[in-house]
Amino acid sequence: MADIRNLALHDDEGVAARASAPSTTGDPMVPRRYAITRVRQDTRDTFTLMLDPVDGGPMRFRAGQFTMLHAFGVGEVPISISGDPRGADEGAPLEHTIRNVGAVTRALVNAPPGTEIGVRGPFGTSWDAPDAVGGDVVFVTGGIGLAPLRPAILDVLAERDKYGKVLLLYGSRTPEDILYGDEMRRWADLNDVNVQMTVDNAPYGYKGKVGFVTELIARAGFDPRRAWAFVCGPEGMMRAAASALVSRGLPPAKVRLSMERSMKCGIGLCGHCQLRDVFLCVDGPVLDYARLEPLMNVREL
Ligand SMILES: Cc1cc2nc3c(=O)[nH]c(=O)nc-3n(C[C@H](O)[C@H](O)[C@H](O)COP(=O)(O)OP(=O)(O)OC[C@H]3O[C@@H](n4cnc5c(N)ncnc54)[C@H](O)[C@@H]3O)c2cc1C
Ligand code: FES
Repeated sequence: MADIRNLALHDDEGVAARASAPSTTGDPMVPRRYAITRVRQDTRDTFTLMLDPVDGGPMRFRAGQFTMLHAFGVGEVPISISGDPRGADEGAPLEHTIRNVGAVTRALVNAPPGTEIGVRGPFGTSWDAPDAVGGDVVFVTGGIGLAPLRPAILDVLAERDKYGKVLLLYGSRTPEDILYGDEMRRWADLNDVNVQMTVDNAPYGYKGKVGFVTELIARAGFDPRRAWAFVCGPEGMMRAAASALVSRGLPPAKVRLSMERSMKCGIGLCGHCQLRDVFLCVDGPVLDYARLEPLMNVREL
């Protein structure tokens, strides 16, 4: 793992530019207080938190950006914003969908409504899904990876007629782990989204598709000459998906992935998220496969 000594490898200008990452408080290291207004259980271990600012206006963000969520007395973790980027102007709460995997995520998902937490951000790059206007759009995702992609899907659906085919290829471990199942069905019925779901393992008698999500790519109906792909999930799945998309003829620059690494500061100072010369908290988390491929294939980074 990289540490702060790696900053010596960077020029002062680069560090200063990173440190000026966007903030809603003036100081990007100082969390703003938000109250949990509702907690929705999505699957057995995944919950969506609805947050309202305790003081000040709503947080505006771009699809793909993340915040640092601070459970007071426990710690702070990076979590992607999963709500609609247009929501802030319509009074919608700030949404994060969180899988309970450890101390901080457990504290966040178990906090009752009314609890105050700290929020820093928004930080990082965007999916910039509108770059795909005029072409086909392929979303490939697995498990909780649908949460960071949801704002980009909502961006596309807000102007559905500007795009060609829209495909959502979704994989989960089991049928019980399927996230936003009702919403995916609504997207298929109302927004002409070709939703294909698959599970890794299913109980006897399960009628849906069984297999890995990456297996859906080879036969998916899109035109690679005019398609863009947006991929989010475990790193091994993203590597396999990106490689399958490139084999179908998509240029690596039109395949975007959202990368996860341990993060502490979120603004390019601490080096925890560093992948060679890339600081994932500011240069990412969304990056294209042309940039990521050489980094993803080096084990020790
Ligand atoms: C940019 C970004 C966006 C993210 N978005 C989401 C999201 O929308 N929803 C969500 O549930 N999680 C998201 N994560 C992952 C989330 O930050 C980790 O699950 C969280 O930090 C775990 O903290 P913990 O204290 O609960 O568990 P810990 O005790 O710290 O870790 C529990 C387990 O999770 C693994 N882990 C810890 N941190 C990470 C990480 N950053 N990436 C991958 N594995 C990790 C550990 O190796 C360990 O196996 C995101 C991470 C990043 C970097
Ligand atoms: S440099 Fe600190 S989290 Fe990226």
